[in-house]
Amino acid sequence: PPVSNGPKELKLNFEPVAHTNADLVTVPKDYQVSILHALGDPLHYGDTSWSDTGTESAESYQRRIGDGHDGMYYFGLSDDGKFDANRSDRGLLCVNHEYVVAPYGLHPAGSTRVDGKRPAEEVRKEIFAHGASVSEIQRKAGSNEMEMVRGSKYNRRVHSATPMEMAGPAAGNAKLVTKLSVDGKEAFGMNNNCACGYTPWGTYLTCEENYLNVIGRAVDDDTQRSASEIVALNRYGLPQGRENPYGWDTPEGEEFKRWNSAVSAAAARDDYRNIFNSFGWVVEIDPFRPDSKPVKRSALGRFNHEGAWPAPAKAGEPIVIYSGDDARNEYVFKFVSDAKWDPKDVNGGAAAGAKYLDKGTLYAAKFNDDGTGEWLELTHGKNGIDASNPVYPFADQADVVMHCRLAADFMGATKMDRPEWGGVNPLNNEVYMTMTNNSKRDGVKIPLDAANPRIGNTNGHIVRWREEGSQAGTKFQWDIYLFGARVDGKQSENLSNLSATNDFSSPDGLYFDQRTDGGAGLLWIQTDDGSYTDVTNCMMLAAIPGQVGDGKRVTTSDGQETIMGAHATGANVRRFLVGPFDCEITGVVVTPDGKTLFFNVQHPGEDKGDFATNTFTSHWPGNQPGIISHHQGHKRPRSATVVVTRKDGGPIAL
Ligand code: FEO
Ligand code: CA
Ligand code: CA
Ligand code: CA
Repeated sequence: PPVSNGPKELKLNFEPVAHTNADLVTVPKDYQVSILHALGDPLHYGDTSWSDTGTESAESYQRRIGDGHDGMYYFGLSDDGKFDANRSDRGLLCVNHEYVVAPYGLHPAGSTRVDGKRPAEEVRKEIFAHGASVSEIQRKAGSNEMEMVRGSKYNRRVHSATPMEMAGPAAGNAKLVTKLSVDGKEAFGMNNNCACGYTPWGTYLTCEENYLNVIGRAVDDDTQRSASEIVALNRYGLPQGRENPYGWDTPEGEEFKRWNSAVSAAAARDDYRNIFNSFGWVVEIDPFRPDSKPVKRSALGRFNHEGAWPAPAKAGEPIVIYSGDDARNEYVFKFVSDAKWDPKDVNGGAAAGAKYLDKGTLYAAKFNDDGTGEWLELTHGKNGIDASNPVYPFADQADVVMHCRLAADFMGATKMDRPEWGGVNPLNNEVYMTMTNNSKRDGVKIPLDAANPRIGNTNGHIVRWREEGSQAGTKFQWDIYLFGARVDGKQSENLSNLSATNDFSSPDGLYFDQRTDGGAGLLWIQTDDGSYTDVTNCMMLAAIPGQVGDGKRVTTSDGQETIMGAHATGANVRRFLVGPFDCEITGVVVTPDGKTLFFNVQHPGEDKGDFATNTFTSHWPGNQPGIISHHQGHKRPRSATVVVTRKDGGPIAL
């Protein structure tokens, strides 16, 4: 992260944006937006521009912006091609392409099937439209707005068929052997990369979340498996007979067989029985070396990895990375490296990644009802995590990281209300994480606890904690920073005293500014919601958070006592923008000088539409006034990265 000039008193300085269902990005009155890139935009010369007909070839998506823009990070780029944490006018933007909104975006007439089978060309296009993009971006002359540098040598796609390396404890393990990786040291493609992280040495971390979307498992497959394999497959959501939701395993041909984990041969090296184990990891991409091979860093664990949120690196101390497992009643994790941070490793690429991310300790969080918490160590041979374990027989540390959900079950970690994004406040190192909602928190089978104190938790909340001693410590203090609610009180209780200018539901994206204009510590909160969309589309808020312990004990209307942060006010939480219809607002990063903000609009219009009449519930971004011409006038809704600047060139939000 860039060097901060030190805290100044943060003060929100913009007019809050009202609730709206307009099919537009709506920003405060002195701000403007433009589109950096949208689904299908060519990264290089030689490919056609977006046709708005879905006729782009599958092959060309290896060089086009993918679908489902999600997590992202900006890396300043120096004139000699290195990571410059303080550069704002030129950089590399890494963007996740989480998934394909298949029915409308990519194909001429939505996604199709013939006799239950997906056409091979459609599946190939979807495989290439997943993953992440790296693009060089630069400021337009005389402006803080930024544009993509088409044809840059840094422009690159990583997708669901990109060869990758497996590293860390799981690399080379028998449970990763497949026909494509007979030594278990390679992986092929990354899937459903949701949120992200970044390292102090200048690499991007991109995280596989809903990879269950791309894998199927045969009926009666259990008869081919050991008892422990069946435990693991079921715990990770892949029971026998579960169809591949995207149907990627349905076209004829060897290239599609890897999307089903069926046991089909005498030996693992001849089939894809273990392919499922190659997904659910954190992937490290070095954006500064376009030819570098992405690496799956297994030491950080395998689960529905939302993101990987680093604490600020301090010389001589370990690298600390927080993660959330985004599924109902899953866990919060923390990784602490063995190696201590040496600032000379900036620009160290994959070698630095191996040094800091392949050896360390993985923990799961336990939030006690009294406001204390502890990190439970998930290490083979400690605390009964071994082959005699009653939950699952852990053979080695590879087995522990590959099945860390089972290790955390055994250790008694706290089941959370769907952990999404996290962030570490650069001013005091407190950690924040959104709990988006949890329809399965029924208060009976899944009881309430102080950290998840509402039945159903329709509108979500944000938990935060302060580590005791160092960031790598094993004890913490926590409270709930904010509870989501509608100001009309129709769903969850309005515990945080939200008003019409800052009420929200289903917090998801979260990011602490690290800018050097005195804005470090400003908190951005984004929503991915279906509960408040009758009144307002998804949104982004800016906030000036307090600290753990600034609130008081309260009892929720469901009868659970908890510890709540200080109330929201118009001065400390304010709605900064609202997105177009049926979208999710996700991914946010601000340039080091605080003058350009990027955010992503994912799946505008969701999947509702009619190709015959070119009518969709959203026509964004083609309908947004004032954006650059090659994005204007199109009818198909597209996920896109949006650039926000102040018309007077001033700092964002302050
Ligand atoms: Fe892809 Fe948990 O959001
Ligand atoms: Ca998310
Ligand atoms: Ca979400
Ligand atoms: Ca999403």
